[in-house]
Amino acid sequence: MNTTHRKQTVLYRARTLFILLSVVLLITACTSDKPQYHIGVSQCSIGYWRSKVNNEMLAAQHLFEQDVKVDIVDCYDQSDEQIRQIDSLVASDIDLLVVAPNDDKIAPALKRAKDKGIPVVLFDRMTGSDDYTAFIGGSNVAIGELAADYALQTALATERRNVLEIAALQNTSPARERHEGFERRMRQHPEASYRCVVGNWDDNNTHDILQKEIAEGRLPDVVFCHSDFMALGAHRAVAEAGMEQRIKVIGVDGLPGEGITYVQKGWLAGTCVYPTHGEEIVRLALNILNGEPYERKNYLNIMLITPENVDMIARYANEMKKQSEDIVIIQDKLENYFGLYHVQTRIIWAGILAIVLLAVAVAATWTAVRQTRKAHRRQKALNEEQTRFYTNASHQLKTPLTLIAGPVRKLLEEPSLKAGERELLEIVGRNVSQLESLVSDVLNFRRQVQDTVSDETAAGISHAEAKDIVHESHLDMLNQADAEELPNILIVEDNADMRRYLRTLLANRFYVLEADDGQSGLRLARESVPDLIVSDVMMPVMDGLQLCKQLKEDFITSHIPVILLTARSEERQQMEGYECGADAYLTKPFHAEVLVSRIYNLLALRRQLRQLFDGSKHGKTQAEVKLTTQDKLFMDQLKEAVNSNLANPNLKMDELGNQLGISRVQLYRKVKTLTGLSPVELLRQMRLQKAFTLLNSTTKTVAEIAFEVGFNSPSYFSNCFKKQFGKLPLEIRAE
Ligand code: FRU
Repeated sequence: MNTTHRKQTVLYRARTLFILLSVVLLITACTSDKPQYHIGVSQCSIGYWRSKVNNEMLAAQHLFEQDVKVDIVDCYDQSDEQIRQIDSLVASDIDLLVVAPNDDKIAPALKRAKDKGIPVVLFDRMTGSDDYTAFIGGSNVAIGELAADYALQTALATERRNVLEIAALQNTSPARERHEGFERRMRQHPEASYRCVVGNWDDNNTHDILQKEIAEGRLPDVVFCHSDFMALGAHRAVAEAGMEQRIKVIGVDGLPGEGITYVQKGWLAGTCVYPTHGEEIVRLALNILNGEPYERKNYLNIMLITPENVDMIARYANEMKKQSEDIVIIQDKLENYFGLYHVQTRIIWAGILAIVLLAVAVAATWTAVRQTRKAHRRQKALNEEQTRFYTNASHQLKTPLTLIAGPVRKLLEEPSLKAGERELLEIVGRNVSQLESLVSDVLNFRRQVQDTVSDETAAGISHAEAKDIVHESHLDMLNQADAEELPNILIVEDNADMRRYLRTLLANRFYVLEADDGQSGLRLARESVPDLIVSDVMMPVMDGLQLCKQLKEDFITSHIPVILLTARSEERQQMEGYECGADAYLTKPFHAEVLVSRIYNLLALRRQLRQLFDGSKHGKTQAEVKLTTQDKLFMDQLKEAVNSNLANPNLKMDELGNQLGISRVQLYRKVKTLTGLSPVELLRQMRLQKAFTLLNSTTKTVAEIAFEVGFNSPSYFSNCFKKQFGKLPLEIRAE
């Protein structure tokens, strides 16, 4: 593996890792809807007071800047159950524990929670142990004192001043503390008689205690019970004894629907408000969790409700109750919305995740495609480089191979060769052929076949037609060879050996001219206007393509067929060749016979065109179509020049040439090639043609017409006319 490749792989891996990490982070960050703090609450019992404080805590979940999740469990006055519940809350993922201890028995469970590093907030009750973080609730000692003051005030107004305290279970801290506060005050007032009976938190138990007291003649004037629930039991006993006017009952809690209502109904003489304030419990918990300052013991305000203030407090409390019920409704809705919000958030993040993954996939695909393309480009460039190398190498081989093969074949045609010499030459010939085919293989056989096909297509004739024409023209040429002058062939080739070889090949059939680069070739072509040009492509000064282009653009040389001869067999160059107007394209190494055939073929085509133009075989229009634009232009200009000078009997060829901007020789060669006639013959033919038209379309005399078309003597005119049309002018008139 090279350094660049290794670097790319490392980069690629780093990028993939980065993308994966981002996705994982995104998922964890976005899909987590966990509230920041989870608070577990362990309740010890049920009832009015408990459900009020529970609702207040739940309503406070979204009250503060930071959301909390409050989970409440209840042990229904069972300490063992509460211990189990606390342990399982601690084992779950709570951040803080809030407990209203059922009694002192649960202290070890609180210690375990504290030891695990979970802060413990006690409310309402304590355990007698110090294993808690903070406490919040009403002061029960103060409640005992407040109740005692009111009880004394009531009792001292009576005759016997008997005060009875029915205390709740003494292993629960409120019962202990309420008793403590109550008793302390009572001891300060010996003018009142005070007695305490310990019961439990139950109403029936309280009822039974008071019933027994009454029955046994210990009639109290005031009874203090540790809760409104207990006070209800006491009231029942009082009512049963028909002593409602005599015995006053005081309770604790002061809730609407409970203690407040009992006071309004006159069942109780008063009740102490034991505050709930669940929201303050949550506030304290958040302070602890956020490391903000907080008090360890937080006592909430207490107050006394009596028949004097009960109506006002009832109104206020009912409003509060209604508001907190509304808050519970809002709380429920809020929970629903949050649920919906979390679902929506998850859907949105899932969507974003999908988009991110899609983008990653697209990016990965794009990278892969880009790399593949790059590899293809590199491979293509390499291939092209190789092809160029092999083509050039083969090109270098082709010229010397042609120059060995040609002369050897020529020598083998010699009948006077000795047997030994022939054998040696045949060995040379065979091996040269082998080399030639090896070179051709290198240059891709398939492409060569295509080249041949396009060669012939460009010549505009079918294979069979070409064969016929070649055959015919061979005979033609052989027949004409002696009688007429030989066709002029110009060879343009920079390699002297190749030039010499071509000359040897063509000299006995054609009159050969030579030039060693494109520029001198062009000059010679313009001067001598040959019948055909064979040119190499790669040459100094001016290459074959340039030469061909210039020849075809030139007025004088545009009609001359050009065969391009080269070792470059690439399709692109052949295309260029045809675009330059080349008539044929031969790739080296070529067989001498193919070249000769191609030359005859093109000369024959030229001659056919000339006959067509001449009107001797077919219609004139068809022939003109086949002429190049340049040739057509030349013929049009020539005809125009002749027509405007038709009446001039002394018209010289030099003048005609001057008018067209070419020399006498060029005019002769060009006209001869295109029409098969010399300029003089063409002029005479045009004069006679015009005369023919005039005879048919006017009433002018033969003599008049003869002068008009440039004949000095009417009798010579008549002679020529008869030669051309087979009839005398007067005979045409007679018709
Ligand atoms: C409710 C209750 C209240 C009382 C408090 C003492 O369970 O019995 O009536 O004031 O508990 O913890």
